[in-house]
Amino acid sequence: MSQPRYVASVGDDDKERLAIQHESFLSGTEQFLTKLNLQDGMNVLVVGCGGGDETAMIAKKIRPTGTVTAIDISLDQINVCREKMNEEKINNVRFKTLAAEGLKELIGMFDVVYCRMLLVHVAKPREVLSLMMKKVKNGGILACEEPDISTCFTAPESPAFKKHIGLLCEFIRKSGCDPDLGSKTYQIFQEIGCSNISIDFFQPAITESRLKKASSLSAISCGPQYILAGLATESEVNNMINEIEIDVVQSNTLLGQCRMTQIFGRK
Ligand SMILES: C[S@@+](CC[C@H](N)C(=O)[O-])C[C@H]1O[C@@H](n2cnc3c(N)ncnc32)[C@H](O)[C@@H]1O
Repeated sequence: MSQPRYVASVGDDDKERLAIQHESFLSGTEQFLTKLNLQDGMNVLVVGCGGGDETAMIAKKIRPTGTVTAIDISLDQINVCREKMNEEKINNVRFKTLAAEGLKELIGMFDVVYCRMLLVHVAKPREVLSLMMKKVKNGGILACEEPDISTCFTAPESPAFKKHIGLLCEFIRKSGCDPDLGSKTYQIFQEIGCSNISIDFFQPAITESRLKKASSLSAISCGPQYILAGLATESEVNNMINEIEIDVVQSNTLLGQCRMTQIFGRK
């Protein structure tokens, strides 16, 4: 399977944005993980672990004897994730630089296989979910939190933010992926034979400037790819970033983060 170009920067360059974004989604992820009934001793696979925020949450819930295996296509992201585990003194995580499409290579079966914000970046989400399902032990759980990116909004409307979300969706589509994959996972979970499917939505309302900063950081992180793809010029990207900072981050504007589909089912 060929890899689509990942839209954001990786490693230390995207650490701050992913950490702020995680704070916005934290309560939703916490509620979702509670539903999975994670227990000490479980083996959990996190696919596309990024900076390791949800990996840390899971690792704490299954220690001391449970283990998380965290994989990501990017070695830089794995390094950030490893650093976070060291900082938080979490020692029940093992790491592997591996694409989700290469999951067959991974040895072992898992009680829970989980991803968050990964499938919108893969060209064949159904195949990836199917590979993830193959790594679930019989009776175990397949779980995802995936966005519909076009559901991000601001009130009042910021034309610059709207433009960024439009470019982001266009870039992801041009790379052969689906920015609004979240709501489609229900269909896919049924097709790949998941049973007892549970589904819900979570959409954070962000009013604090510190957290709204994720909107301009996201434009900074993705801007170079918009330029490379010929979707915007450098000055258009710079203006867009400045306007998001003024219209959204430094104002009383409400930021509606993307709606996240939270879904899990049993094998
Ligand atoms: C938006 S980040 C999400 C990170 C983390 N799951 C979170 O929710 O904070 C997407 C992550 O998926 C990784 N990724 C993208 N395509 C991948 C693929 N085909 N296989 C594995 N990881 C991939 C990226 O390197 C990045 O770390």
